Amino acid sequence: MNIAITGANGLVGSRIVELLRDEFTFIPLNHSEVDITDQKQVHKKLNDIDFDLLLHMAAYTNVDKAEEEKIIAHKLNVDATKYLFNEVHTLNKKMIYVSTDFVFDGKNPPFDENSKPNPVGYYGQSKYDGELVLEKKAMVVRITYPYGNTKSKKCHPELDSGSRKKLVKQDFVQKIRSYLANDKSLSMVTDSLMTPTYIDDITLALKYLMNNFSPEIFHIIGSKSYSPFEAGKMIAEHYQLPEWLIQPTTFEEYSKGKSPRPQFAETKSIKNTFYEMRSFGEGLQYLT
Ligand SMILES: NC(=O)c1ccc[n+]([C@@H]2O[C@H](COP(=O)([O-])OP(=O)(O)OC[C@H]3O[C@@H](n4cnc5c(N)ncnc54)[C@H](OP(=O)(O)O)[C@@H]3O)[C@@H](O)[C@H]2O)c1
Repeated sequence: MNIAITGANGLVGSRIVELLRDEFTFIPLNHSEVDITDQKQVHKKLNDIDFDLLLHMAAYTNVDKAEEEKIIAHKLNVDATKYLFNEVHTLNKKMIYVSTDFVFDGKNPPFDENSKPNPVGYYGQSKYDGELVLEKKAMVVRITYPYGNTKSKKCHPELDSGSRKKLVKQDFVQKIRSYLANDKSLSMVTDSLMTPTYIDDITLALKYLMNNFSPEIFHIIGSKSYSPFEAGKMIAEHYQLPEWLIQPTTFEEYSKGKSPRPQFAETKSIKNTFYEMRSFGEGLQYLT
């Protein structure tokens, strides 16, 4: 199967291409080659290539900045998704749109595929608006707190800055690890929930979904939710870094001056019967 993919250089997309390159032929729509916020470029590119399914991973992903940059976030997360979907639909091909648990308000967990989205911040709103432009004719795969791409920057402290440019952004595990490794203290929230997801699990579950396409919503997420405080302690323990640098704080305190976020993002899947997702405790064991 030929898979056109946006965001192939990103944190999650780069691992998908790396792990599944023997299973599928990937056709990356690299940003340097096609700006997906330009409708003409999208039209030309998708009509020039021979693909069966478009995996749309590219997005505006900076949750806090999205509040100030609503127009830019909207262009990438909503308009570009619409341009891509229109072409895919006209060409009678399949499309998978990768979305997020930030479409939920975090007020009455857990959130499964049947729960009603009600985003509290602009990043979540723009991703949800991106889901809506698909008119239930594409697959929506929601993922949460992806971690574990070995190309993530802090996995390679030995590289010089030139070589690091080829690496993807840090995931939350590597961010916390680098804080602790530099003896910086961290205030982490005790009264909220997040659901970390091992990127290799996302990849293998997506492999199933690409082979068994249907235009529905799926949650491809870790099997257990944790408070950020608990997750931080687990990271410290795994990398044998000082746990005492992680201090408890409240969601209210942490939220001051930041974009609104879902507080209890306990996300579940009632539809993933095809791939067993790991918990954070299990996934961490694979990280060196
Ligand atoms: N990371 C998370 O915590 C998280 C959580 C839940 C859901 N998600 C969703 O998962 C997906 C992947 O996220 P990620 O964290 O892997 O993304 P990422 O690392 O932030 O990468 C974003 C990708 O989008 C590309 N891109 C940006 N603007 C573009 C444009 N105008 N035209 C073409 N490509 C463009 C970037 O290319 P360049 O780098 O070349 O600009 C990059 O490859 C997104 O849809 C995101 O909403 C992420």
